[in-house]
Amino acid sequence: MEIDLECRESVDDPAGYFARAREAGGGVQWSERHRAWLLLSHEQVEAGFKDWERLSSDKMDSFERVARRRSEAFNKVVELLSGWMNFRDPPVHDRLREPVRRAFTPRALESLEQDVEEIVAATLDAFPEDGADLMGDYARIVPALVIAAMLGVEPGERYRFQRWSDDLAHLVFSMNPADETDEQPILWSTGEFTEFFSERIEQERRHPTGSLLTTIVEQSGNELSPLELVGACTLLLFGGHETTTILMSNAFAILLEQPDLQAWLREHPEADRSAVEEFARVGGPARALPRKVTVDHERAGQQLRKGQNAYLCVAAANHDPALFREPGAIDLERDPNPHLGFGWGLHYCLGGTLARIETRIAIRRLLERYGTIEPAIPVPRVRASSMGFGRRPLAARLSR
Ligand code: HEM
Repeated sequence: MEIDLECRESVDDPAGYFARAREAGGGVQWSERHRAWLLLSHEQVEAGFKDWERLSSDKMDSFERVARRRSEAFNKVVELLSGWMNFRDPPVHDRLREPVRRAFTPRALESLEQDVEEIVAATLDAFPEDGADLMGDYARIVPALVIAAMLGVEPGERYRFQRWSDDLAHLVFSMNPADETDEQPILWSTGEFTEFFSERIEQERRHPTGSLLTTIVEQSGNELSPLELVGACTLLLFGGHETTTILMSNAFAILLEQPDLQAWLREHPEADRSAVEEFARVGGPARALPRKVTVDHERAGQQLRKGQNAYLCVAAANHDPALFREPGAIDLERDPNPHLGFGWGLHYCLGGTLARIETRIAIRRLLERYGTIEPAIPVPRVRASSMGFGRRPLAARLSR
């Protein structure tokens, strides 16, 4: 069977589609369509996350190759992205991750929870009277404002963050060797980020705001260069915005499409934590994560060769019946729920706890505020790419 991670069926019925794929060819298969090895079982994907020495995340060689085809000024973009820990292997990865990891303490996250409550309340207050687009008016807004608060950005400047998140996406996609887009806007936004965050970091040194960025700056000491600190800020903005937006909006889409689940969650508000885990299992944004094979080796009877590409297929692992009973069903009380939506091992998501807090509070307060939440038009089908889900407007009729 030729697997296509972008086909409709893999999105509409991941449990059935990936079960057929595993049955036909096992937990590790070569895909001509993606020119990559696909790791498809939970066991293989989890092992792949842990095996960073043979399945590397490091993108520097590939970024430098792309930069050679661009103007000299483009090196600035590569320099910025070289500070993104998700694109690096140890030891550089560990050096970049450590100060950020130390900032994400339970206490820091607790104080962010209060910010999240305020941001969610203010966003709901700004909803139009009788309806809203739960994507554009809510899921897209809350994560941007939370990250801005986390980085100690003044409220008046926070709305810039939504646009910047899109600019950062263009910047990352420009690193795809096939990308031909004009580099000028990318260079312009790289300059804008670097200037803005360099100033923010400098202000933190002089007058600490007590935000998470304060801790990152303090913890980094002389370990991170000024540009690496800017890299950390831009990664937190990029890694924490679109991902959380997609998770939230997919959760809202499920609640709009399945009124019985919505009614159940209203009756069982205490189940909101397990509900968020289940939404992350079936609607998390990371469907497959790319890796590079660094040495010839065998996995599940297949011979992988140095230099080949591989995908850790999270969407397949999260629907593997070896770990999940009735993987195609949505069970808001599922326990245990060992999904891999936030990754695993070395690169395990640093913002997972924050994303869970945001999604939980956004759902809970929406359901509390409105007794009726219905689709105003049929919920559009989600667009998927091999790596993640796209956005979709979610027009909803709301009444208290
Ligand atoms: C629903 C929301 C989110 C999802 C599904 C998600 C998912 C992931 C996944 C799958 C990885 C591992 C990538 C890999 O192994 O290649 C990752 C890494 C990361 N995430 Fe998240 N993420 C979310 C939200 C956030 C937030 C809110 C932040 C920060 C504010 C964040 C910061 C990071 C960072 C810094 C890394 C890199 C860790 C490393 O390379 O060591 N993420 N995320």
